[in-house]
Amino acid sequence: MRSMPSAIRFDRTGGPEVLYLAEVGSEAPGPGQVQIRQRAIGVNFIDVYHRSGLYAVPGLPSGLGSEAAGVVTAVGPGVSEFKPGDRVGYGGSAPGAYAEQRVLPADRLVPLPDGISDELAAAILLKGMTVEALVERTVPVRSGDTVLVHAAAGGVGLLLCQWLSNRGVRVIGTVSTEQKAELALAHGADEIVVGHDDFVARVRELTGGRGVRVAYDSIGRTTVPGSIECLALRGALIAYGNASGKPEPIDVLTLAKGSLFVTRPVLFHYIAERSELLASARAVFEGVLSGGLRVHIGQRFALADAAKAHVALESRQTSGATVLLP
Ligand SMILES: NC(=O)c1ccc[n+]([C@@H]2O[C@H](COP(=O)([O-])OP(=O)(O)OC[C@H]3O[C@@H](n4cnc5c(N)ncnc54)[C@H](OP(=O)(O)O)[C@@H]3O)[C@@H](O)[C@H]2O)c1
Repeated sequence: MRSMPSAIRFDRTGGPEVLYLAEVGSEAPGPGQVQIRQRAIGVNFIDVYHRSGLYAVPGLPSGLGSEAAGVVTAVGPGVSEFKPGDRVGYGGSAPGAYAEQRVLPADRLVPLPDGISDELAAAILLKGMTVEALVERTVPVRSGDTVLVHAAAGGVGLLLCQWLSNRGVRVIGTVSTEQKAELALAHGADEIVVGHDDFVARVRELTGGRGVRVAYDSIGRTTVPGSIECLALRGALIAYGNASGKPEPIDVLTLAKGSLFVTRPVLFHYIAERSELLASARAVFEGVLSGGLRVHIGQRFALADAAKAHVALESRQTSGATVLLP
């Protein structure tokens, strides 16, 4: 690393072109904080929402990114859990992960076990903890249930398919291309619908007209009405993302046609307590180390090329996880 660390910044919200690399200087850790030399950074769709303005950032100019892994370089007063040289990761920080160096509260970091590389941690922490929260703590699913997973070959999607499959759940996925279909089928999906034109009819067909117990919808505006149509009696829509834009409001009476449930979970609310954060990360790491979760890193970009990573993610050219390398 150069003496003056660099980070991706943006001064105004907009397209990928608003992102630029700047020297930001070194920051010393304050009380309860840890300074990290970052070795790999995870790219997530929430970064697009922050950059575009769909989700507000605390202030502009701003950094970007919520997930990374690296090595502790200094600790502030009062930090006893970590020391210089420790390998740590995080998923779900305030925007600012697209950086060579970062200072964060110690209580938001997780120690990285042997066998979990920096790159792997950056690829899986935020996405994997999201999947843990969705499957284990949002709506209960049982072996034999059938569910719908949109964007099944995406960063979250491939992990979600595997986690559900490991639980004995039958997964119907949607993707945009045959290539993505193959990837999702190789990562736990049982059936794949290519394209969104007729996914409601296909899901009805594949479930003998009954519909699915849960629809995991990360696409939002273009798919939420159809996902509701796909639900079985007393089924649940988990609307957890907006890749196609903010969904239209849902008329509560729509839910009366099947006594349906709707929730809009946010990872941060499921890892708010340190004990929850550590337990969720542990479940993800155990999944990887036991072989139950395979991590597909589909794309790698240099940190300076973060804008290119965003172009790829937003134009649906990516599959699996995307990482930036400082
Ligand atoms: N609620 C939470 O706490 C939480 C936490 C983490 C992630 N998420 C959400 O989970 C979703 C997945 O995140 P990710 O980072 O893993 O991204 P991703 O799924 O790898 O990328 C998004 C995928 O969405 C699909 N898509 C469909 N319509 C799209 C459109 N109009 N524009 C762009 N993509 C479209 C594409 O797959 P196809 O080409 O196959 O259609 C695309 O590859 C995002 O919606 C994200 O916001 C939510």
